[in-house]
Amino acid sequence: MGTLLWALGAISSRFLGTLTLRTQPPRDHFVASLNSKAEIYYPGSEQFLNASVRWSAAQTPQYDMIVKVSSEADVQKTICFANENKRPFFTISGGHGTTTLINNITNGVGILMHNMNNITIVDNGSAALLEGGVFSGDLISYLWSHGKQTMTTGCDCVGYIAPILGGGHGWLQGRYGLASDQLISARMVLANGTAITVSQDSNPDLFWAIRGAGHNFGVVTQVKMKIYDREPEQDQWATSGFVFTQDKLEQVFTIANGWLESPKRPVELTQYGVFSFNPDIDPINPIFMMWIYWQGPAIPSKYTDPLNALSPAAVDYSVTGLTSVNAHLQADRDGGACAEGFSRAMVPISLTNYSLPALRKVLDIFTTLPTEFRTSIMLLEGYATNRVSEIPSEGSAFPDRDANLLLSPVLTWPKNASLDATGWEIGGRIRRAALEGTDGKLEAYVNYARGDESMEELYGYESWRLEKLRKLKKEFDPHGRFNFYAPILED
Ligand SMILES: Cc1cc2nc3c(=O)[nH]c(=O)nc-3n(C[C@H](O)[C@H](O)[C@H](O)COP(=O)(O)OP(=O)(O)OC[C@H]3O[C@@H](n4cnc5c(N)ncnc54)[C@H](O)[C@@H]3O)c2cc1C
Ligand SMILES: *[C@@H]1O[C@H](CO)[C@@H](O)[C@H](O)[C@H]1NC(C)=O
Ligand SMILES: *[C@@H]1O[C@H](CO)[C@@H](O)[C@H](O)[C@H]1NC(C)=O
Ligand SMILES: *[C@@H]1O[C@H](CO)[C@@H](O)[C@H](O)[C@H]1NC(C)=O
Ligand SMILES: *[C@@H]1O[C@H](CO)[C@@H](O)[C@H](O)[C@H]1NC(C)=O
Ligand SMILES: *[C@@H]1O[C@H](CO)[C@@H](O)[C@H](O)[C@H]1NC(C)=O
Ligand SMILES: *[C@@H]1O[C@H](CO)[C@@H](O)[C@H](O)[C@H]1NC(C)=O
Ligand SMILES: *[C@@H]1O[C@H](CO)[C@@H](O)[C@H](O)[C@H]1NC(C)=O
Repeated sequence: MGTLLWALGAISSRFLGTLTLRTQPPRDHFVASLNSKAEIYYPGSEQFLNASVRWSAAQTPQYDMIVKVSSEADVQKTICFANENKRPFFTISGGHGTTTLINNITNGVGILMHNMNNITIVDNGSAALLEGGVFSGDLISYLWSHGKQTMTTGCDCVGYIAPILGGGHGWLQGRYGLASDQLISARMVLANGTAITVSQDSNPDLFWAIRGAGHNFGVVTQVKMKIYDREPEQDQWATSGFVFTQDKLEQVFTIANGWLESPKRPVELTQYGVFSFNPDIDPINPIFMMWIYWQGPAIPSKYTDPLNALSPAAVDYSVTGLTSVNAHLQADRDGGACAEGFSRAMVPISLTNYSLPALRKVLDIFTTLPTEFRTSIMLLEGYATNRVSEIPSEGSAFPDRDANLLLSPVLTWPKNASLDATGWEIGGRIRRAALEGTDGKLEAYVNYARGDESMEELYGYESWRLEKLRKLKKEFDPHGRFNFYAPILED
């Protein structure tokens, strides 16, 4: 256990006195039982600090120890250890989850998944085995370099497994469906430490549930996913960003609605709107962008001509591959979307089309953002949905297959707890404004949830869904050990 001793050695003496568990025999036994590649970090060490840093500084789970696991057995032992010591535990992959419930973790045991990042192509190239800590960017580039691709998300630094658990939106969902639609099977460690296989044939109800409500049931140590051959004629991605001043809002989003309502939406087209500030273009008001992504060598002019006719303030254009489209979103590892250390809030709203008055209201809220919040953006994500909407809604726990658009602010402010209430209040106003002109029934994407959504908003309005989820929750997590992320709660 060389690495472990080394990690223990990193504890500063300042903290030794506060670690009540340190000398208790159960922990020594636990430590000795772990795989030799496992590490344990304690408060006061740099490794602990690094492992605790989340994408958003506004979520501050408090751990007594973080176990960097390296096998399924390590996960089992860590959960059993936490149970025996009546400690909450929490899985840490990409660290991007932003629900406020994460703040409920005190004296916790972190289960850090970063060592479990193996990707292996199996079944004659039709599937891949991914361990529970794989990052989205690593998956995209691994598959691409092996002549493969699958539905992958729009941000390299986000974990890949957690998005599956809540559905999983991103590139190629128009062709293949959601990330969760690619799931063939999963290995999971349940709240009592038991490891099971979940698939269509093994625990099929749980297999249904983890594809949309999956944060509630276990730690996923490995998944088997469908993957697909790259096809040379589809390998290029033409991308173009059109920047507009705010006076063009209604005109641009009328065009965007036309694309959404077209009876034959092309599977190649992603439309991605963003509100932000750019003082070079408008020193006072927010501006907005319409990014067009076309899977192919060139964007058809029927999409670009109407935007060019509105005299955009700036236009960029590039042709790249799937491994580089996230960089165009500034969501590669060095991009602004991946920067840690800021406080953040997301507030999801799924919609079928744009209400222009509602968009204007949201933009007006942006216009009045306090100075500290002016690096915030509003995401208006419009990935192709062809395959997503073909898959029967009752086939998995993901409830929102009717939605074409995923809206959410990414509110960003300097880490400063006295600003958090303002961030919360602005987020609430944006959500109410974005829902104007709809039937008012919020559909909130679980993976962007902020923590105040109802069960119906997160998991769907059909009562059979909620009953099924509640029954499964009672069976597999009766004591609510997995309740720090969009928990399934009793009526
Ligand atoms: C900048 C940014 C970009 C994003 N882009 C996309 C996108 O393109 N598409 C999309 O669908 N979503 C996207 N999301 C949302 C994303 O799906 C969620 O934030 C997701 O929870 C992040 O996973 P993580 O591993 O990075 O985060 P973590 O905070 O580490 O994990 C999130 C939750 O999942 C649990 N978890 C993590 N790993 C496991 C595991 N192996 N087994 C069981 N539970 C686990 C954690 O305990 C936690 O409850 C984005 C979010 C951000 C902030
Ligand atoms: C902690 O993170 C910083 C910044 O990313 C890095 O430079 C440093 O090497 C990390 N330390 C350890 C012990 O991993
Ligand atoms: C989380 O904490 C809040 C208070 O911050 C509390 O109201 C809520 O009940 C807690 N939820 C759970 C699931 O513990
Ligand atoms: C990854 O997993 C495969 C299949 O289980 C195994 O053969 C391979 O050695 C693993 N790679 C690493 C680096 O652990
Ligand atoms: C394996 O895949 C290749 C190419 O994808 C295909 O030609 C071959 O028939 C497949 N073999 C089997 C046994 O399925
Ligand atoms: C935190 O924000 C408050 C409210 O805007 C401000 O008064 C205070 O100076 C800020 N603190 C720091 C350290 O920036
Ligand atoms: C647009 O969205 C509204 C509100 O959700 C809905 O009532 C309407 O039917 C949608 N229009 C089209 C053409 O889909
Ligand atoms: C753990 O929980 C599962 C699901 O409820 C159950 O099937 C299994 O028997 C439990 N294992 C133990 C050791 O109690």
